[in-house]
Amino acid sequence: MPADKCYYLTSPIYYVNDVPHIGHAYTTLACDVLARFKRLDGFDVHFLTGTDEHGQKVEKSAAAAGIDPQSFTDKVSQNFRDLADAMNYSHDDFIRTTEERHTKASQAIWTKLKENGHIYLGTYAGWYAVRDEAFYDESELTDGEGGTKIAPSGAEVEWVEEPSYFFDLSKWQEPLLKFYEENPDFIAPESRRNEVISFVKGGLHDLSISRTSFKWGVPVPDDPEHIMYVWLDALTNYITAVGYPDENSQEFSKYWPANLHMVGKDILRFHAVYWPAFLMGAEIDVHHRVFAHGWWTNEGQKISKSVGNIIEPNEIVDTYGLDQVRYFLLREVPFGNDGDFSHRAMISRINGDLANDLGNLCQRVLSMVNKNCDAKVPACAESGLEDLPVYGTLQEVHALLPKVRQHIDRQAFHDALEEIWRVVRDANRTVDESAPWALRKTDPEAMASVLYILIEVIRHFAILLQPFMPQSCAKMLDQLSVSEKAREFVSLKTEENSTPFDQNALQPGTSLPAPEGIFPRFSD
Ligand code: MSP
Repeated sequence: MPADKCYYLTSPIYYVNDVPHIGHAYTTLACDVLARFKRLDGFDVHFLTGTDEHGQKVEKSAAAAGIDPQSFTDKVSQNFRDLADAMNYSHDDFIRTTEERHTKASQAIWTKLKENGHIYLGTYAGWYAVRDEAFYDESELTDGEGGTKIAPSGAEVEWVEEPSYFFDLSKWQEPLLKFYEENPDFIAPESRRNEVISFVKGGLHDLSISRTSFKWGVPVPDDPEHIMYVWLDALTNYITAVGYPDENSQEFSKYWPANLHMVGKDILRFHAVYWPAFLMGAEIDVHHRVFAHGWWTNEGQKISKSVGNIIEPNEIVDTYGLDQVRYFLLREVPFGNDGDFSHRAMISRINGDLANDLGNLCQRVLSMVNKNCDAKVPACAESGLEDLPVYGTLQEVHALLPKVRQHIDRQAFHDALEEIWRVVRDANRTVDESAPWALRKTDPEAMASVLYILIEVIRHFAILLQPFMPQSCAKMLDQLSVSEKAREFVSLKTEENSTPFDQNALQPGTSLPAPEGIFPRFSD
């Protein structure tokens, strides 16, 4: 497979001690849609997710739970695997940073950075937020209650003073700025790119990359009193998973550099500043792109454990249905912006877009075929179709894939869905205009042609929407008797002025199962 037909994408690895909530589900969902899309589009995809299991925060949580950190992480890491199953993610690998392969890779990148002269021993004195596992400058802090100091994220910081190894980040300002300039698509969306550039232009300090005040992490090679900074360890997961330090391995050559690291806006700096600097320092190619999405609030309020307003993915999936939740999260908010989760908005998408638009289209067309065409794919006239109103819809549906592909390549999931829905709504309008039910008596052949074209239109929607709503689209494709191997994008027609007749088009005379509603209305 040529390298440009390989696609490696990653979600962040999640802190195990958090209860998985909608924010975690969202980042990986976006990756899942992209991974499924690329696979259907003929790519050799490698989709990685996993858990971030080291660091002071996890050590503290394990101590609070009264168990050793390894048993603790074994237990809680399972919550994220369960989330992955519940959300129907199609990851190819689930990495845990406590795995042997990862210790090996983390120590190897450290050794390489050391050999290349980018690591030195010193003393760290400064502010650290355990919750964020991040260092802060005095100037970034505000005063909290009882004399405490607070980081911009809201986390309380503590003063840390201990021997520490440093990475010479200050030397990477110019190389990073040059890299951003030469790779204008490296950071998306645009507004985030500008933020990162001005942060780097503001000057970079050397970064403390080891700690001696706790034990739970990867020991520094040749100085095991020091534990590697959890972010250096965590970021390295992206290369561990493709075989690093064996840079000649088949996996590494095929998949690295990653095509995309998908992250939330809060962790962009780690992926767009520190990680490329570490990679450059270790003479490893830098990933192609980082996309930073926005944050969800719950009915207008920041989601947090302490406020007690966490939205548990399982609960909303039980209430609304899995594909409904997947659709909502990627349709409701332009990807990259912040968004608000509300039950009202969810119900409005389910009843509007899914039940009234797509569900209704499928249900009424397939019922008419079932009743009036002997439950078989009807025959379609080979000429004179241009005069039918549904013909315009067919041409539009044939033009969809290249447009949707462009949106997906920019991670504009909302635009991809809106592009498809424009045609779904048009299809419903042309059903009304064509009134196949009235043609039944006056011109049964025209009725058959209209219905044939409409089920061809539905076949296109069902194939194109699989990445977003895999289970529902599988049902739609079953109802059209489309075989498994004819569900990839190569089975779609993509020329604007084409008729439906090619080898992948539905074959007249094929029996169709009795239609069943796929997108029910939600009523309280
Ligand atoms: N462990 C680090 C990532 C290391 S990657 C090498 C981490 N973990 S996390 O569990 O705190 O967060 C993981 C992801 O969840 C981030 O992308 C973050 O943006 C996302 N979200 C957490 N809360 C969120 C919302 N309320 N809304 C949307 N996404 C949010 O950071």
